[in-house]
Amino acid sequence: MKDFNIAVIPGDGIGKEVVSEAVRVLETAADLHGGLSFQFTEYPWNCDYYLEHGVMMPEDGLEQLQPHDAVFLGAVGDPNKVPDHISLWGLLINIRRSFEQVVNIRPAKHIKGVRSPLHDPKGFDFIVVRENSEGEYSESGGRIHQGDDEIAIQNAVFTKKGTRRAMDYAFKLAESRRHHVTSATKSNGIVHSMPFWDEVFKETAIDFPDIKTRKVHIDALSAFLVSQPETFDVIVASNLFGDILTDVGAAIMGSIGIAPSANINLNGKYPSMFEPVHGSAPDIVGKGIANPIGQIWTAKMMLDHFGENELGNHLLSSIENVLDSGIKTPDLGGKATTEEVTNAVINELKKL
Ligand code: NAD
Ligand code: IPM
Ligand code: MN
Repeated sequence: MKDFNIAVIPGDGIGKEVVSEAVRVLETAADLHGGLSFQFTEYPWNCDYYLEHGVMMPEDGLEQLQPHDAVFLGAVGDPNKVPDHISLWGLLINIRRSFEQVVNIRPAKHIKGVRSPLHDPKGFDFIVVRENSEGEYSESGGRIHQGDDEIAIQNAVFTKKGTRRAMDYAFKLAESRRHHVTSATKSNGIVHSMPFWDEVFKETAIDFPDIKTRKVHIDALSAFLVSQPETFDVIVASNLFGDILTDVGAAIMGSIGIAPSANINLNGKYPSMFEPVHGSAPDIVGKGIANPIGQIWTAKMMLDHFGENELGNHLLSSIENVLDSGIKTPDLGGKATTEEVTNAVINELKKL
């Protein structure tokens, strides 16, 4: 029996609504598998916790998470109660950084039965490998002077190690896919860090002679994701570029409510963290209509990470069958509730 210990952080807003549903799916998956079990430990760290305790997680919060095999997170942020720079940096970004989750993997593909805003999505299927520890999200900089003279300085820090490991990951991933890596860049003379990014990309490509490469400026790339998404396989991007591209990826899939993501620790020292691309969606909280698919697909990525690829693929097929059958939440043009969609996925899973 393989037993996985999972730290569950539902977080804020719809995070709480979709995490419990995805946990139900995982429990069913374990029952069906037979040789698999999950122990879930829930951590109630969110903006309400902050209002009560003055911190987003206890002082030993990271030590509490550390022994788990993975962290399964919903969403963080309740901007009307706690400013995002406190809530996100105190919990989500803190975990990504402290647990050296240096790459963030975000697939996007056209799903049958889901209406993409593109008139002809041509079966696009790509994965963004987002550098997840530095770049534009570096904390170097600050504010100086005051009043009309005030200046905000933000340094984007790109290390050779950080850049190279994201690129290595992307090239290795492409070896198991369609052997094509696109680099998201902006090296046309304006941004200092990007000629460096390009150099590291070129160096990495030399070590992977079987992989075709393409270098596209981020502005054109954003447009190409709309006009020709089927031409991409693996896209490697810096932290901010990857953040933006993956919301575009989610949008062309049909809704940000279905997009999954995985923050991967590569050195085995800390658990990886699985969370959907979307946030806490304060505008629909409490209505029972949050799309659980992003969180459930994220659970599939966690199963893959545990080496349970067959079960993971069953889960993705179940998701696809449900969406194709028309059982969808309102963000996808349907009428189903969060619970109805989850029940349908569970029923499909039982059929396979
Ligand atoms: P958001 O992703 O929460 O919402 C954007 C839009 O998408 C909203 O209209 C929302 O209703 C819709 N949406 C999102 N997820 C959905 C789902 N599962 N089903 C149906 N519709 C869905 O982004 P935002 O409004 O910019 O951010 C809200 C809060 O979440 C902020 O505090 C933000 O910082 C935070 N946030 C957190 C994460 C995270 O924890 N990983 C990610 C993004 C945003
Ligand atoms: C995401 C989110 C986060 C990010 C925010 C909430 C800090 O947008 O996970 O995509 O920028 O990484
Ligand atoms: Mn984002």
